[in-house]
Amino acid sequence: MPHELKILFTTSEIHPLVKTGGLADVAQGLSQALHELGVDVRLCLPAYRAVLEQLAAPHQLAQFHIAGCRFPVRLLLSRLPATDVPLYLVDIPQYYDRVGGPYGTAEGLDWPDNPQRFAAFSRVCADLALGRLDPHWQPDLVHANDWQTALVPALLSLEMRRPASVFTIHNLAYQGRFPADVFRRLALPESLWGPDGLEFYGDLVFIKGGLLFADWLTTVSPTYAQEIQTPPFGYGLDPILRWRKERLVGILNGVDYHQWDPRRDPFIPAHYDPDHLGGKARDKAALRAHFGILGDPDAPLAAFIGRLVDQKGADLILDALPHLLTRDLRLVILGSGDADLEMRVRRTADAHPGQVAAHLGYNEALAHLIEAGADLFLMPSRFEPCGLNQIYSLRYGTVPVVHRTGGLADSVVDASPENLAQGTATGFQFAPATADALAGAVHRALHLYADRPRWEALMRRGMAQDFSWQRAAGHYLALYRRALGG
Ligand code: ADP
Ligand code: GLC
Repeated sequence: MPHELKILFTTSEIHPLVKTGGLADVAQGLSQALHELGVDVRLCLPAYRAVLEQLAAPHQLAQFHIAGCRFPVRLLLSRLPATDVPLYLVDIPQYYDRVGGPYGTAEGLDWPDNPQRFAAFSRVCADLALGRLDPHWQPDLVHANDWQTALVPALLSLEMRRPASVFTIHNLAYQGRFPADVFRRLALPESLWGPDGLEFYGDLVFIKGGLLFADWLTTVSPTYAQEIQTPPFGYGLDPILRWRKERLVGILNGVDYHQWDPRRDPFIPAHYDPDHLGGKARDKAALRAHFGILGDPDAPLAAFIGRLVDQKGADLILDALPHLLTRDLRLVILGSGDADLEMRVRRTADAHPGQVAAHLGYNEALAHLIEAGADLFLMPSRFEPCGLNQIYSLRYGTVPVVHRTGGLADSVVDASPENLAQGTATGFQFAPATADALAGAVHRALHLYADRPRWEALMRRGMAQDFSWQRAAGHYLALYRRALGG
């Protein structure tokens, strides 16, 4: 098929090269699905040290200087591993060639020069989009993501002849907010300052560049698209989102079933599908052994995977534990994040040996084993733009228990008596985001768990859901066409 539409997808992370959260999964899954739909989609990513180490000698396209950055810049071209999707890399060793994560040190401290790092990255993305860096390729549209590339639509808005732009909000809580004097140091065009620009109550706020200047805005679920137009979810930016609501669309993320499917997952000891659930019991045994879980092998096993930050509500699980452990429940936790919360998780596990266990850190293989081996997946997020683990859990027959918010509300159907009777239920929802409401939902789940045939019916219904990227990519493609006036 001829490549008709040219899209530049700018992102600060992408699986499997560099990942701190769901954005990496989305960048990979969406770009791959668009490619399969015949779109000429290309990615642009900072050339972090860990990324360059995983790629065979990328080809150098250009070497140049940009405003606001005293270091020379190189633009490299490679491919996303195991795909045909071209990958541009912005190489500024002084910014990206470091030991640590994409946004901070291994100890979790933000890099102090993050504004410089991502302003420079965004400038190069904008120049690439304007056809100034690769003589052989210019996109019709730039798709920027989160605050790290939010300056791209802002910079493009200053140009007479420019590609169209879409900006996706993956999480409005991360805005890229810095003191005002940083704006001058970045040598950004003066016209971008002020309340109608990047200024927000006297500070520089990167994400405003996307919110104000992109032709279209998207976020990663329909419910979150509504929520961010309200003060509790808007952090003061909700007036902008209400003002732009005609140009704001919620598109639920897909998931990559090549990676997340118990039929073929290479990280799990036994494979299974809705008609052959036996493998799941073996995975549960392996998971219990890994974590030293003791007692009745059929006792329900609940799990949490995620960043240990306020958003994800892991503290609500710990608060609810006294009510939950009376029911013979076992719990495993995989996560890393805030030091206080990590300590609380560690102490809780130590206090309940054989019943509660935790792995503090990031571990891809263990995340897969947990998805396969657990019976219940807890996601009590206070807010959740989309959330991916509840969708993975559905496919693994690991029944999700979620706070009714954002993408959790849009992807899990509550096992109410009516939904159970109609055969539409896939999990359990609760609200508000409190330990009591969570405990109530877990008790409802455990009640059903005791009724094996009905529980397995619920598992099977979840496993049959299809949240593949093809559907979401179709929505993005329609939006791109609309943005281009088609
Ligand atoms: P967010 O992007 O807000 O962190 P998502 O649910 O969209 O939340 O995506 C989180 C992704 O990161 C999932 O793929 C999840 O499995 C993964 N993940 C989070 N924490 C860990 C961890 N400690 N170890 C392995 N994978 C993790
Ligand atoms: C963000 C959100 C998460 C979403 C992910 C990918 O990190 O917190 O809900 O799934 O982005 O869009």
